[in-house]
Amino acid sequence: MNKGQKLLRKAIKIIPGGNQLLSKRSEMFLPGVWPAYYKKAKGCKVWDLNNKMYYDFAGMGVTSCVLGYSNDSLNKSLIKGLKNGSMCTLNATEEVDLANELLKIHKWSGMAKFCKSGGEACMVAIRIARAYTKKDNIAFCGYHGWHDWYLATNMSNKKNLDKQLLPGLKTKGVSSTFKNTIKPFMYNDIDSLKKIFKNKNNNIGIIIMEPTRGVKPKHNFLKQVKSIAKKNNAILIFDEITSGFKDNYGGIHLKLKVNPDMAIFGKSIGNGYPISAIIGKKKIMEVAQDTFISSTMWTDRLGFIAANETLKRLKKNKIHKIISYYGNIIKNGWIKYATKHKIDISISGLDTILYLKFNYKNNAEIVTFFTQEMLKRGFLAGSQVATSSAYNKNIINKYLKEVDQVFGKIKFFLEKGKFPLKGEIKHSTFKRLTG
Ligand SMILES: Cc1ncc(COP(=O)(O)O)c(C=O)c1O
Repeated sequence: MNKGQKLLRKAIKIIPGGNQLLSKRSEMFLPGVWPAYYKKAKGCKVWDLNNKMYYDFAGMGVTSCVLGYSNDSLNKSLIKGLKNGSMCTLNATEEVDLANELLKIHKWSGMAKFCKSGGEACMVAIRIARAYTKKDNIAFCGYHGWHDWYLATNMSNKKNLDKQLLPGLKTKGVSSTFKNTIKPFMYNDIDSLKKIFKNKNNNIGIIIMEPTRGVKPKHNFLKQVKSIAKKNNAILIFDEITSGFKDNYGGIHLKLKVNPDMAIFGKSIGNGYPISAIIGKKKIMEVAQDTFISSTMWTDRLGFIAANETLKRLKKNKIHKIISYYGNIIKNGWIKYATKHKIDISISGLDTILYLKFNYKNNAEIVTFFTQEMLKRGFLAGSQVATSSAYNKNIINKYLKEVDQVFGKIKFFLEKGKFPLKGEIKHSTFKRLTG
Protein backbone atom coordinates (compact mmCIF):
# COMPACT_ATOMS: atom_id res chain seq x y z
CA MET A 1 0.00 0.00 0.00
CA ASN A 2 1.41 3.46 -0.89
CA LYS A 3 2.00 6.10 1.80
CA GLY A 4 -1.00 8.15 0.63
CA GLN A 5 -3.39 5.24 1.08
CA LYS A 6 -1.88 4.49 4.50
CA LEU A 7 -2.53 8.08 5.59
CA LEU A 8 -6.03 7.96 4.14
CA ARG A 9 -6.84 4.90 6.28
CA LYS A 10 -5.98 7.02 9.36
CA ALA A 11 -7.77 10.11 8.00
CA ILE A 12 -11.05 8.28 7.51
CA LYS A 13 -11.09 7.52 11.25
CA ILE A 14 -10.87 11.20 12.24
CA ILE A 15 -12.32 13.08 9.22
CA PRO A 16 -15.77 12.00 7.98
CA GLY A 17 -15.25 10.69 4.44
CA GLY A 18 -11.48 11.26 4.80
CA ASN A 19 -11.41 14.71 3.15
CA GLN A 20 -13.50 17.78 2.30
CA LEU A 21 -14.42 17.27 -1.37
CA LEU A 22 -16.17 14.28 -2.91
CA SER A 23 -14.38 14.71 -6.25
CA LYS A 24 -10.98 14.47 -4.53
CA ARG A 25 -11.74 11.19 -2.85
CA SER A 26 -9.47 8.33 -3.89
CA GLU A 27 -12.56 6.19 -4.39
CA MET A 28 -13.70 8.47 -7.21
CA PHE A 29 -10.54 7.51 -9.15
CA LEU A 30 -8.85 4.29 -8.06
CA PRO A 31 -9.95 2.85 -4.72
CA GLY A 32 -7.04 1.63 -2.58
CA VAL A 33 -4.38 2.62 -5.11
CA TRP A 34 -4.74 6.35 -5.95
CA PRO A 35 -1.86 8.36 -4.38
CA ALA A 36 -4.46 10.39 -2.38
CA TYR A 37 -2.08 13.10 -1.03
CA TYR A 38 0.56 15.35 -2.53
CA LYS A 39 3.83 16.73 -1.23
CA LYS A 40 4.34 19.27 -3.97
CA ALA A 41 2.58 20.53 -7.09
CA LYS A 42 4.28 22.72 -9.70
CA GLY A 43 3.15 23.50 -13.25
CA CYS A 44 1.28 20.34 -14.21
CA LYS A 45 3.51 18.05 -12.15
CA VAL A 46 2.48 16.50 -8.85
CA TRP A 47 4.66 14.61 -6.35
CA ASP A 48 3.00 12.08 -4.05
CA LEU A 49 4.07 11.00 -0.54
CA ASN A 50 6.37 8.36 -2.08
CA ASN A 51 8.08 11.18 -4.05
CA LYS A 52 6.75 9.73 -7.28
CA MET A 53 6.09 12.41 -9.92
CA TYR A 54 2.96 12.42 -12.09
CA TYR A 55 1.68 14.69 -14.83
CA ASP A 56 -1.82 15.84 -13.91
CA PHE A 57 -4.36 14.97 -16.62
CA ALA A 58 -7.10 14.47 -14.03
CA GLY A 59 -8.57 17.96 -13.70
CA MET A 60 -5.73 20.26 -12.53
CA GLY A 61 -7.14 21.02 -9.08
CA VAL A 62 -10.77 20.25 -9.90
CA THR A 63 -10.56 22.52 -12.99
CA SER A 64 -9.29 25.57 -11.08
CA CYS A 65 -5.55 25.80 -11.86
CA VAL A 66 -5.74 27.16 -15.36
CA LEU A 67 -2.24 28.72 -15.07
CA GLY A 68 -0.79 25.60 -13.45
CA TYR A 69 0.16 24.83 -9.88
CA SER A 70 2.27 27.25 -7.85
CA ASN A 71 2.61 29.66 -10.78
CA ASP A 72 5.82 31.69 -10.36
CA SER A 73 4.52 35.10 -11.36
CA LEU A 74 1.36 34.67 -9.28
CA ASN A 75 3.49 33.54 -6.33
CA LYS A 76 5.51 36.76 -6.58
CA SER A 77 2.41 38.96 -6.17
CA LEU A 78 1.01 36.74 -3.44
CA ILE A 79 4.23 36.75 -1.43
CA LYS A 80 4.30 40.55 -1.67
CA GLY A 81 0.69 40.63 -0.44
CA LEU A 82 1.54 38.25 2.38
CA LYS A 83 4.46 40.42 3.49
CA ASN A 84 2.25 43.52 3.45
CA GLY A 85 -0.42 41.76 5.49
CA SER A 86 -3.20 39.54 4.18
CA MET A 87 -5.67 40.48 6.95
CA CYS A 88 -6.28 43.84 8.57
CA THR A 89 -8.90 45.98 10.32
CA LEU A 90 -9.13 47.99 7.08
CA ASN A 91 -10.17 46.69 3.67
CA ALA A 92 -7.93 45.61 0.78
CA THR A 93 -7.90 47.90 -2.27
CA GLU A 94 -7.57 44.81 -4.49
CA GLU A 95 -11.24 44.12 -3.81
CA VAL A 96 -12.24 47.26 -5.73
CA ASP A 97 -9.82 46.42 -8.57
CA LEU A 98 -11.39 42.97 -8.97
CA ALA A 99 -14.93 44.40 -8.99
CA ASN A 100 -13.89 46.93 -11.66
CA GLU A 101 -12.37 44.27 -13.90
CA LEU A 102 -15.31 41.85 -13.67
CA LEU A 103 -17.81 44.64 -14.39
CA LYS A 104 -15.70 45.89 -17.29
CA ILE A 105 -15.71 42.42 -18.88
CA HIS A 106 -19.44 41.90 -18.28
CA LYS A 107 -20.95 45.18 -19.44
CA TRP A 108 -24.50 44.09 -18.60
CA SER A 109 -23.62 43.95 -14.88
CA GLY A 110 -23.32 46.84 -12.45
CA MET A 111 -22.18 45.50 -9.08
CA ALA A 112 -20.11 42.68 -7.61
CA LYS A 113 -19.80 40.83 -4.31
CA PHE A 114 -17.13 38.36 -3.26
CA CYS A 115 -16.75 35.31 -1.11
CA LYS A 116 -14.52 32.27 -1.05
CA SER A 117 -16.07 29.06 -2.37
CA GLY A 118 -18.38 28.27 -5.24
CA GLY A 119 -21.25 26.86 -3.21
CA GLU A 120 -21.09 29.88 -0.94
CA ALA A 121 -21.29 32.25 -3.93
CA CYS A 122 -24.38 30.39 -5.18
CA MET A 123 -25.94 30.81 -1.72
CA VAL A 124 -25.20 34.56 -1.78
CA ALA A 125 -26.69 34.90 -5.28
CA ILE A 126 -29.82 33.02 -4.25
CA ARG A 127 -30.26 35.21 -1.15
CA ILE A 128 -29.95 38.43 -3.16
CA ALA A 129 -32.25 37.17 -5.92
CA ARG A 130 -34.87 36.03 -3.40
CA ALA A 131 -34.69 39.37 -1.60
CA TYR A 132 -35.26 41.09 -4.95
CA THR A 133 -38.10 38.95 -6.33
CA LYS A 134 -39.72 38.25 -2.95
CA LYS A 135 -40.47 34.78 -4.32
CA ASP A 136 -39.03 31.81 -2.44
CA ASN A 137 -38.76 29.10 -5.03
CA ILE A 138 -36.12 28.08 -7.52
CA ALA A 139 -35.88 26.21 -10.83
CA PHE A 140 -32.40 24.75 -11.34
CA CYS A 141 -30.35 22.70 -13.77
CA GLY A 142 -26.95 21.18 -12.84
CA TYR A 143 -24.81 21.43 -9.72
CA HIS A 144 -24.67 24.50 -7.48
CA GLY A 145 -23.03 23.47 -4.21
CA TRP A 146 -23.77 21.60 -1.00
CA HIS A 147 -26.11 24.05 0.78
CA ASP A 148 -29.60 23.27 2.10
CA TRP A 149 -31.47 25.18 -0.61
CA TYR A 150 -29.89 22.94 -3.29
CA LEU A 151 -29.86 19.51 -1.66
CA ALA A 152 -33.47 20.00 -0.53
CA THR A 153 -34.65 19.10 -4.04
CA ASN A 154 -34.12 15.45 -3.12
CA MET A 155 -36.66 15.82 -0.30
CA SER A 156 -39.61 15.91 -2.69
CA ASN A 157 -38.11 13.20 -4.92
CA LYS A 158 -34.95 11.37 -3.88
CA LYS A 159 -33.97 10.93 -7.52
CA ASN A 160 -34.10 14.64 -8.45
CA LEU A 161 -30.31 14.97 -8.32
CA ASP A 162 -29.57 11.65 -10.04
CA LYS A 163 -29.28 13.24 -13.47
CA GLN A 164 -28.24 16.71 -12.29
CA LEU A 165 -25.28 15.63 -10.15
CA LEU A 166 -25.04 12.14 -8.68
CA PRO A 167 -27.33 9.36 -7.63
CA GLY A 168 -27.57 8.50 -3.95
CA LEU A 169 -27.44 11.98 -2.39
CA LYS A 170 -29.25 11.94 0.94
CA THR A 171 -30.91 14.94 2.59
CA LYS A 172 -30.29 14.17 6.26
CA GLY A 173 -29.69 17.40 8.15
CA VAL A 174 -31.33 19.57 5.49
CA SER A 175 -34.10 21.77 6.88
CA SER A 176 -37.50 20.44 5.84
CA THR A 177 -38.65 24.05 5.39
CA PHE A 178 -36.96 23.90 1.97
CA LYS A 179 -39.01 20.89 0.84
CA ASN A 180 -40.80 21.55 -2.47
CA THR A 181 -38.98 24.85 -2.97
CA ILE A 182 -36.49 23.74 -5.59
CA LYS A 183 -37.43 22.13 -8.91
CA PRO A 184 -35.07 20.53 -11.44
CA PHE A 185 -35.22 21.01 -15.20
CA MET A 186 -33.09 19.31 -17.85
CA TYR A 187 -30.54 21.03 -20.07
CA ASN A 188 -31.74 21.57 -23.66
CA ASP A 189 -35.26 20.50 -22.65
CA ILE A 190 -37.22 23.75 -22.58
CA ASP A 191 -40.48 21.88 -21.95
CA SER A 192 -39.14 20.67 -18.60
CA LEU A 193 -38.73 24.32 -17.55
CA LYS A 194 -42.06 25.41 -19.03
CA LYS A 195 -43.77 22.68 -17.01
CA ILE A 196 -42.39 24.10 -13.77
CA PHE A 197 -43.68 27.60 -14.58
CA LYS A 198 -47.07 26.30 -15.71
CA ASN A 199 -47.91 25.39 -12.13
CA LYS A 200 -48.41 28.81 -10.51
CA ASN A 201 -48.21 27.21 -7.04
CA ASN A 202 -44.53 26.72 -7.76
CA ASN A 203 -44.00 30.47 -7.21
CA ILE A 204 -40.62 30.42 -8.96
CA GLY A 205 -38.54 33.60 -8.62
CA ILE A 206 -35.13 32.26 -9.68
CA ILE A 207 -33.71 30.16 -12.51
CA ILE A 208 -30.14 29.01 -11.84
CA MET A 209 -28.09 27.00 -14.31
CA GLU A 210 -24.71 26.63 -15.98
CA PRO A 211 -24.89 28.27 -19.42
CA THR A 212 -23.12 25.18 -20.80
CA ARG A 213 -20.81 22.46 -19.58
CA GLY A 214 -21.27 18.90 -20.84
CA VAL A 215 -23.30 19.78 -23.92
CA LYS A 216 -23.76 22.88 -26.04
CA PRO A 217 -27.11 24.71 -26.08
CA LYS A 218 -29.42 23.63 -28.91
CA HIS A 219 -32.41 25.38 -30.54
CA ASN A 220 -31.74 28.71 -28.81
CA PHE A 221 -32.14 27.01 -25.45
CA LEU A 222 -30.54 29.82 -23.43
CA LYS A 223 -32.56 32.52 -25.20
CA GLN A 224 -35.73 30.57 -24.50
CA VAL A 225 -34.80 30.20 -20.83
CA LYS A 226 -34.17 33.94 -20.66
CA SER A 227 -37.51 34.77 -22.20
CA ILE A 228 -39.31 32.45 -19.73
CA ALA A 229 -37.48 34.20 -16.88
CA LYS A 230 -38.48 37.63 -18.20
CA LYS A 231 -42.11 36.67 -18.76
CA ASN A 232 -42.41 35.33 -15.21
CA ASN A 233 -40.41 38.06 -13.45
CA ALA A 234 -37.80 35.53 -12.41
CA ILE A 235 -34.08 36.24 -12.04
CA LEU A 236 -31.82 34.30 -14.36
CA ILE A 237 -28.54 33.31 -12.71
CA PHE A 238 -25.71 31.76 -14.70
CA ASP A 239 -23.42 29.69 -12.51
CA GLU A 240 -20.03 30.03 -14.20
CA ILE A 241 -17.96 28.63 -11.35
CA THR A 242 -16.54 26.01 -13.66
CA SER A 243 -17.32 27.35 -17.15
CA GLY A 244 -16.07 30.91 -16.60
CA PHE A 245 -12.69 32.09 -17.93
CA LYS A 246 -11.98 28.81 -19.68
CA ASP A 247 -12.90 28.81 -23.40
CA ASN A 248 -12.92 32.64 -23.42
CA TYR A 249 -11.91 35.60 -21.24
CA GLY A 250 -14.98 36.09 -19.06
CA GLY A 251 -18.17 34.12 -18.60
CA ILE A 252 -18.87 31.63 -21.36
CA HIS A 253 -22.28 33.35 -21.71
CA LEU A 254 -20.43 36.18 -23.51
CA LYS A 255 -19.42 33.67 -26.16
CA LEU A 256 -22.94 32.22 -26.25
CA LYS A 257 -24.36 35.74 -26.53
CA VAL A 258 -26.99 35.47 -23.79
CA ASN A 259 -26.65 37.73 -20.75
CA PRO A 260 -28.20 36.71 -17.42
CA ASP A 261 -29.38 38.95 -14.55
CA MET A 262 -26.64 37.61 -12.30
CA ALA A 263 -23.52 35.45 -12.78
CA ILE A 264 -21.25 33.57 -10.41
CA PHE A 265 -17.53 32.84 -10.78
CA GLY A 266 -15.02 30.80 -8.81
CA LYS A 267 -12.26 28.30 -9.43
CA SER A 268 -10.29 29.68 -12.43
CA ILE A 269 -10.60 33.35 -11.46
CA GLY A 270 -8.11 32.78 -8.62
CA ASN A 271 -6.15 29.91 -10.16
CA GLY A 272 -7.08 27.74 -7.18
CA TYR A 273 -6.82 30.39 -4.44
CA PRO A 274 -10.02 30.81 -2.43
CA ILE A 275 -12.05 33.52 -4.15
CA SER A 276 -15.48 33.55 -5.75
CA ALA A 277 -17.57 36.34 -7.20
CA ILE A 278 -21.20 37.24 -7.76
CA ILE A 279 -21.99 39.94 -10.30
CA GLY A 280 -25.38 41.25 -11.30
CA LYS A 281 -27.50 44.10 -12.55
CA LYS A 282 -27.25 47.05 -10.20
CA LYS A 283 -30.93 47.17 -9.20
CA ILE A 284 -30.76 43.52 -8.12
CA MET A 285 -27.36 43.60 -6.40
CA GLU A 286 -28.27 46.69 -4.40
CA VAL A 287 -30.85 44.62 -2.53
CA ALA A 288 -27.88 42.88 -0.86
CA GLN A 289 -27.97 45.87 1.51
CA ASP A 290 -31.50 45.05 2.65
CA THR A 291 -30.45 41.63 3.94
CA PHE A 292 -27.45 40.48 5.98
CA ILE A 293 -24.62 38.96 3.92
CA SER A 294 -21.23 39.30 5.61
CA SER A 295 -18.14 37.27 6.54
CA THR A 296 -14.68 38.03 7.98
CA MET A 297 -12.73 35.76 5.67
CA TRP A 298 -14.36 37.21 2.56
CA THR A 299 -12.13 40.24 3.14
CA ASP A 300 -8.88 38.25 2.95
CA ARG A 301 -6.46 40.00 0.63
CA LEU A 302 -4.78 37.00 -0.97
CA GLY A 303 -7.88 35.81 -2.79
CA PHE A 304 -8.28 39.24 -4.41
CA ILE A 305 -4.60 39.43 -5.33
CA ALA A 306 -4.74 35.92 -6.80
CA ALA A 307 -7.79 36.84 -8.87
CA ASN A 308 -6.43 40.19 -10.12
CA GLU A 309 -3.12 38.63 -11.10
CA THR A 310 -4.74 35.56 -12.68
CA LEU A 311 -7.12 37.70 -14.73
CA LYS A 312 -4.24 39.91 -15.87
CA ARG A 313 -2.37 36.90 -17.15
CA LEU A 314 -5.43 35.24 -18.69
CA LYS A 315 -6.14 38.43 -20.64
CA LYS A 316 -2.61 39.43 -21.61
CA ASN A 317 -1.50 36.00 -22.77
CA LYS A 318 -4.88 35.00 -24.26
CA ILE A 319 -4.68 31.83 -22.18
CA HIS A 320 -8.15 30.66 -23.30
CA LYS A 321 -6.79 30.23 -26.84
CA ILE A 322 -3.84 28.18 -25.64
CA ILE A 323 -5.85 25.90 -23.37
CA SER A 324 -8.58 25.43 -26.00
CA TYR A 325 -5.86 24.46 -28.49
CA TYR A 326 -4.47 21.91 -26.01
CA GLY A 327 -7.98 20.57 -25.40
CA ASN A 328 -8.44 20.00 -29.11
CA ILE A 329 -5.12 18.15 -29.40
CA ILE A 330 -6.20 15.84 -26.57
CA LYS A 331 -9.66 15.34 -28.06
CA ASN A 332 -8.19 14.47 -31.48
CA GLY A 333 -5.69 12.13 -29.81
CA TRP A 334 -8.47 10.25 -27.98
CA ILE A 335 -10.38 9.92 -31.26
CA LYS A 336 -7.27 8.80 -33.18
CA TYR A 337 -6.35 6.04 -30.72
CA ALA A 338 -9.92 4.91 -30.12
CA THR A 339 -10.28 4.52 -33.90
CA LYS A 340 -6.92 2.72 -34.16
CA HIS A 341 -7.86 0.19 -31.47
CA LYS A 342 -11.52 0.00 -32.52
CA ILE A 343 -12.99 1.07 -29.20
CA ASP A 344 -16.19 3.05 -28.98
CA ILE A 345 -15.86 6.34 -27.09
CA SER A 346 -17.74 9.59 -26.82
CA ILE A 347 -16.35 12.97 -25.86
CA SER A 348 -18.29 15.85 -24.35
CA GLY A 349 -17.60 19.11 -22.52
CA LEU A 350 -15.95 22.42 -23.28
CA ASP A 351 -12.78 22.71 -25.36
CA THR A 352 -10.93 23.18 -22.06
CA ILE A 353 -12.81 20.66 -19.90
CA LEU A 354 -13.18 17.37 -21.71
CA TYR A 355 -15.05 14.25 -20.66
CA LEU A 356 -14.22 10.81 -22.02
CA LYS A 357 -16.75 8.01 -21.96
CA PHE A 358 -16.31 4.44 -23.10
CA ASN A 359 -19.56 3.42 -24.73
CA TYR A 360 -19.91 0.10 -22.97
CA LYS A 361 -22.08 -1.04 -20.08
CA ASN A 362 -18.96 -1.33 -17.89
CA ASN A 363 -17.73 2.26 -18.57
CA ALA A 364 -16.85 2.72 -14.85
CA GLU A 365 -14.74 -0.45 -14.86
CA ILE A 366 -12.93 0.62 -18.05
CA VAL A 367 -12.26 4.13 -16.71
CA THR A 368 -10.87 2.58 -13.50
CA PHE A 369 -8.56 0.39 -15.59
CA PHE A 370 -7.54 3.44 -17.67
CA THR A 371 -6.66 5.31 -14.44
CA GLN A 372 -4.77 2.31 -13.07
CA GLU A 373 -2.65 1.88 -16.20
CA MET A 374 -2.01 5.62 -16.70
CA LEU A 375 -0.93 5.92 -13.07
CA LYS A 376 1.72 3.21 -13.60
CA ARG A 377 2.96 5.28 -16.54
CA GLY A 378 3.26 8.47 -14.48
CA PHE A 379 -0.07 10.20 -15.21
CA LEU A 380 -2.94 11.17 -12.96
CA ALA A 381 -5.76 10.48 -15.41
CA GLY A 382 -9.44 9.66 -15.45
CA SER A 383 -12.51 10.52 -17.48
CA GLN A 384 -12.06 14.31 -17.15
CA VAL A 385 -9.23 16.51 -18.41
CA ALA A 386 -9.08 20.23 -17.64
CA THR A 387 -6.36 21.86 -19.69
CA SER A 388 -3.85 24.31 -18.27
CA SER A 389 -1.28 26.68 -19.71
CA ALA A 390 1.27 24.62 -17.73
CA TYR A 391 0.86 21.91 -20.38
CA ASN A 392 2.91 21.97 -23.56
CA LYS A 393 2.82 19.96 -26.75
CA ASN A 394 5.62 17.71 -25.57
CA ILE A 395 3.81 16.78 -22.33
CA ILE A 396 0.52 16.25 -24.18
CA ASN A 397 2.28 14.00 -26.71
CA LYS A 398 3.75 11.95 -23.83
CA TYR A 399 0.23 11.58 -22.43
CA LEU A 400 -1.23 10.58 -25.80
CA LYS A 401 1.57 8.05 -26.40
CA GLU A 402 0.49 6.30 -23.20
CA VAL A 403 -3.21 6.68 -24.10
CA ASP A 404 -2.40 4.77 -27.32
CA GLN A 405 -0.89 1.90 -25.30
CA VAL A 406 -3.65 1.83 -22.70
CA PHE A 407 -6.46 1.99 -25.29
CA GLY A 408 -4.76 -1.05 -26.92
CA LYS A 409 -4.94 -2.89 -23.58
CA ILE A 410 -8.56 -1.81 -23.13
CA LYS A 411 -9.42 -3.39 -26.47
CA PHE A 412 -7.68 -6.60 -25.40
CA PHE A 413 -9.52 -6.87 -22.07
CA LEU A 414 -12.84 -5.80 -23.62
CA GLU A 415 -12.56 -8.87 -25.79
CA LYS A 416 -11.61 -11.02 -22.79
CA GLY A 417 -14.65 -9.65 -20.93
CA LYS A 418 -12.84 -8.80 -17.65
CA PHE A 419 -10.36 -6.14 -16.63
CA PRO A 420 -7.47 -6.94 -14.24
CA LEU A 421 -8.11 -4.30 -11.54
CA LYS A 422 -5.92 -4.13 -8.44
CA GLY A 423 -8.79 -2.76 -6.34
CA GLU A 424 -12.49 -2.00 -6.57
CA ILE A 425 -14.19 -0.21 -9.45
CA LYS A 426 -14.24 3.56 -8.89
CA HIS A 427 -17.29 4.98 -7.18
CA SER A 428 -19.73 6.89 -9.34
CA THR A 429 -22.08 7.82 -6.53
CA PHE A 430 -21.86 9.30 -3.06
CA LYS A 431 -21.02 6.55 -0.57
CA ARG A 432 -20.44 6.55 3.15
CA LEU A 433 -16.82 5.64 3.87
CA THR A 434 -15.79 3.97 7.10
CA GLY A 435 -12.35 3.31 8.55
C1 LIG B 1 -21.21 24.87 -11.55
C2 LIG B 1 -20.75 24.70 -10.15
N1 LIG B 1 -21.41 25.31 -9.16
C3 LIG B 1 -21.01 25.22 -7.88
C4 LIG B 1 -19.91 24.46 -7.54
C5 LIG B 1 -19.49 24.38 -6.09
O1 LIG B 1 -18.28 25.04 -5.93
P1 LIG B 1 -17.36 24.76 -4.64
O2 LIG B 1 -16.91 23.33 -4.73
O3 LIG B 1 -16.23 25.72 -4.74
O4 LIG B 1 -18.21 25.01 -3.43
C6 LIG B 1 -19.20 23.79 -8.53
C7 LIG B 1 -18.06 22.95 -8.19
O5 LIG B 1 -17.62 22.11 -8.92
C8 LIG B 1 -19.63 23.91 -9.88
O6 LIG B 1 -18.99 23.30 -10.87
